[in-house]
Amino acid sequence: MKTKNWAVGKELLPDRLSIIQEAAEFLRAGKLVAFPTETVYGLGADARSTEAVEGIFRAKGRPSDNPLIVHIADKSQLHDLVDRVDETSCRLMDACWPGPLTLVLPVKPGAVSPRVTAGLATVAVRMPEHPLALALLRAAGCPVAAPSANRSGRPSPTEAQHVRDDLDGLIDGIVDGGPTGVGVESTVVEVDADGRVHVLRPGGVSAERLAQLVPEAQIVAAAHDDGADGYGAVAAGGAAGPDAPAGGRDGGAQPLTATAPKSPGMKYAHYAPRGRLTLVRGDSAERVAAYIRQELDAARSRGEVTGVLTVAERASLYTADLVVPCGSLAEPESVARGLYAALRRFDDAGATFILAETPEERGIGAAVLNRLRKAAADRVVEV
Ligand code: TXA
Ligand code: MG
Repeated sequence: MKTKNWAVGKELLPDRLSIIQEAAEFLRAGKLVAFPTETVYGLGADARSTEAVEGIFRAKGRPSDNPLIVHIADKSQLHDLVDRVDETSCRLMDACWPGPLTLVLPVKPGAVSPRVTAGLATVAVRMPEHPLALALLRAAGCPVAAPSANRSGRPSPTEAQHVRDDLDGLIDGIVDGGPTGVGVESTVVEVDADGRVHVLRPGGVSAERLAQLVPEAQIVAAAHDDGADGYGAVAAGGAAGPDAPAGGRDGGAQPLTATAPKSPGMKYAHYAPRGRLTLVRGDSAERVAAYIRQELDAARSRGEVTGVLTVAERASLYTADLVVPCGSLAEPESVARGLYAALRRFDDAGATFILAETPEERGIGAAVLNRLRKAAADRVVEV
């Protein structure tokens, strides 16, 4: 298949509207179109069409029991998708939409293909904060299912080139709107019958921000991913160890219980670079650097192609085949913005042994740490 490339630029200039119309026409015809959002590029298809949605799973090589997020441009579209919206969800969407918050809500039977919900009684919905995404969704006029536009197991794409690298020839078109902003995916939440807000996936809206928005609600942090089988289980070590859930220290969060809502996506290994990635954590920045330097030396003498993921302020501390400064300590958001592109660079360089420093687990740092842990398949060294 020939993949069409629409170069649009981030701003939706009037002369580009016809491009958006064409891309929307593709979606309405059941085709697959990648488009930028404020978090990462999504791979969109008409959420009502089982055939179109099956195309997403095929192109990504994604397990089909992992449900997809449905994207809308207008709150009025919500009534066609969901049965009811509880008060807490309503307040969260009022405060955060458009923006990087996804709400899991009871699905209206028949509103979307069962392939979107993977047979669950709920559907995940979000309204992205990106002018091109909103224009495309509006022009398409249908709910659009869109997971991140990467091959399954690869870092999510934050530039159109990443989408081309993974999916060229496998999808119908790519709307190129330049680099995305937030850099990690949306926060996925589900409000339970008791009004507790379960964070199923930490993301662009922090647990601390959720707690500010609904101060009376308990924010229940994401259970730590427990590997290959099962999901939603509480990791050994609980809230006291490095597995502390997002916001655990600040938000008064509790670990998930066996009856808590679960996010099927949590059971899959995601975002894995091809080399072996290990996270290095510790209270002392000097000890972390010393450990990383020593391990790099050892790896080099074994003949490994070495890499380090760090921040701009600390890049000069290291010598490796590839030292990637990802954002700045002074601006945690910049680390999130650069994370996936940084992980891809290690693949391009053929790195076989990669060590990564980790951000503090608060604010956007919780989402970054969550993605890094997945990329590292939970290899974490405490020094
Ligand atoms: O930022 C984002 O959210 C990006 C951009 C493209 O919008 N999209 C994205 O979609 O990350 P996807 O499909 O890769 O992630 C969907 C996540 C998975 O963790 C999935 O398990 C969870 O949302 N999810 C979807 N539907 C769900 C449901 N009904 N109940 C619980 N979790 C659900
Ligand atoms: Mg994804």
